[in-house]
Amino acid sequence: MVTAVHGKKLHVVKWRGRIRLAGWPGMGPLCSRFVAFVLLPIVEVILQPTPESVARLAARIVARELKARPDLVLGLATGRTMEGLYRELIRLHRQEGLDFSRCRIFSLDEYVGVSANDPRSFRHWIHEQLLCHVNVTSENIHLPDGMAPDLEEECRRYEAKIREVGGIDLQLLGIGRAGHIGFNEPLSSLRSRTRAKALTPVTVQQNAAWCGGEEHVPRRAITMGVGTILEARWCLLLAVGMEKAEIVARAVEGPLTSMVPASALQLHPRCTVIVDEAAGARLTLKEYCRWLFEHEPEWEWCRNASLF
Ligand code: F6R
Repeated sequence: MVTAVHGKKLHVVKWRGRIRLAGWPGMGPLCSRFVAFVLLPIVEVILQPTPESVARLAARIVARELKARPDLVLGLATGRTMEGLYRELIRLHRQEGLDFSRCRIFSLDEYVGVSANDPRSFRHWIHEQLLCHVNVTSENIHLPDGMAPDLEEECRRYEAKIREVGGIDLQLLGIGRAGHIGFNEPLSSLRSRTRAKALTPVTVQQNAAWCGGEEHVPRRAITMGVGTILEARWCLLLAVGMEKAEIVARAVEGPLTSMVPASALQLHPRCTVIVDEAAGARLTLKEYCRWLFEHEPEWEWCRNASLF
């Protein structure tokens, strides 16, 4: 199948009913087919005009998965990027009756040595931002315990709990300026499991406002490992704002490297990255990504403007 994007010839390859890769001008169709099969799977990038539309689309994806599977195992992330998505999920719960009663929640990470009542704790934040406002039942909420006396044992317990429920269906992710997912800082093993990890200075700086100054940012956190995250059936990474543009491009289009742990998502069979225009500004394949989103049958349901 040959088509054109903005006047440039593009060879489009479909695999299992999904558009998978287009070759660049000058690349023959045979060559682009070959590249498609070598590169499968690819990270799918969706560009949205604003942070609000990123949040709305992500919320619709979560809602759709939850409706299809009411006992969905949902992995949550914390951070500014998630705020809009959680606001939107609360709105869908209140106005459209989105039901979380059977949904099972696993949080990505938690600071070490910070109690659940401490406003810096992710447990506290995630309750305030989402869980207190929807009908999730407390026995379905799972977070690593950063106060556990034996952290290694706590990490093993958390991994075992994820296995016990059959793994994570949909994992939400943000990306740190240093390229982390969860608190998998640069040089994290791409096969790492849940463990306690020391924060890099960039992350300490990034989280300073949250904790009331750099000196109050805990220096260690328990985080699901890169390997743990890669086992989720679907990873949905969100990024907004121009300060994420460089790291998003390195994670999605750059080489696979432990210096950018988010680049490990290139190995994932189903990873969707939703960015606003600012966060997507440094991507070189932007036009290709736009074209894919407009034509991919899988996204037909959300191209209908009335959804938003
Ligand atoms: C938090 C987490 C982090 C953040 C990332 C982006 O649970 O896992 O990886 O998602 O640091 O943070 P924001 O959204 O605040 O830029």
